[in-house]
Amino acid sequence: MARKKIALIGAGMIGGTLAHLAAQKELGDVVLFDIAEGIPEGKGLDIAESSPIDGYDSHLKGSQDYKDIAGADVCIVTAGVARKPGMSRDDLLGINLKVMKSVGEGIKTHAPNALVICITNPLDAMVWALQKFSGLPANKVVGMAGILDSARFRYFLAEEFNVSVESVTAFVLGGHGDTMVPLVRYSTVAGIPLPDLIEMGWTTQAKIDAIVDRTRKGGGEIVALLKTGSAYYAPAASAIQMAECYLKDKKLVVPCAAQLSGQYGLNDLYVGVPIVLGADGCERIVEVKLNKDEKAMFDSSVAAVHELMDACVKLDPSLG
Ligand code: APR
Repeated sequence: MARKKIALIGAGMIGGTLAHLAAQKELGDVVLFDIAEGIPEGKGLDIAESSPIDGYDSHLKGSQDYKDIAGADVCIVTAGVARKPGMSRDDLLGINLKVMKSVGEGIKTHAPNALVICITNPLDAMVWALQKFSGLPANKVVGMAGILDSARFRYFLAEEFNVSVESVTAFVLGGHGDTMVPLVRYSTVAGIPLPDLIEMGWTTQAKIDAIVDRTRKGGGEIVALLKTGSAYYAPAASAIQMAECYLKDKKLVVPCAAQLSGQYGLNDLYVGVPIVLGADGCERIVEVKLNKDEKAMFDSSVAAVHELMDACVKLDPSLG
């Protein structure tokens, strides 16, 4: 059986990390595509030269030509501009929308059967635009945000409880941004929900509130520390989990930005919800029951996503 093909559109900080992880995990052969000449070729060669040491067989190729992504099984999109200190995700909108147009056209022409995982920010609006520009079915175009947000939530909780990160599950809904909705009562340590852990004296409501706040601002915390860019290790690990899940038809239930068609009373928008991710891409959207407070937070997150979509339509009326 021929190896699978993973196309990485954008070979910057996340793209390079994606290439390294995809090759190490032998998910398939890797094509790094970027408009910057030499960067994808250099990163591809550097990673390939580590393969004899680490013992994996994966062919890596750098390219500036969309033809090289032909027949890709998975396309992971990080092309665009990353957030700099003082820049909100929304500031990125104008630049990255144009990038989504060219990427969408490239994928439509050369890899129309791929699962497309978008990472470029502002995520929910970019994945929505990318699906429209590419014309691919909505179940095959998903956005990576929820796995990253919930991984941050899980990590902070594991530190608070001094337990393994593997024992912590977390649940995050809504748009990728400061309005995301970490759902405390659906987040657990070994199945014990956080409100019960507060009652058991493991932590306090104030500490959980602080962790929720830190999770919401998790991206900004890294930007402030790095000063010259945004997070890349955890975003790359999150997207690789999605790619692997699709290629192996694992049907993990994971939070992703998916197109809603009636779920949560919403239509034609992408927002973070739990989905079943398998060989058909987004196979099912899980509609959880929200209480009044959660619904209010989700609604305000959705409103923030709608605002970005409206701004996109103003910039490019073809999206309307
Ligand atoms: N086509 C292909 N590649 C492009 C294009 C384009 N039209 N425009 C820019 N690029 C490339 C850049 O040359 C750069 O190598 O996209 C890459 C982006 O890499 P970085 O600037 O290192 O950004 P990164 O940290 O990888 O983040 C990428 O993901 O999380 C989001 O906010 C983040 O939107 C950003 C994206």
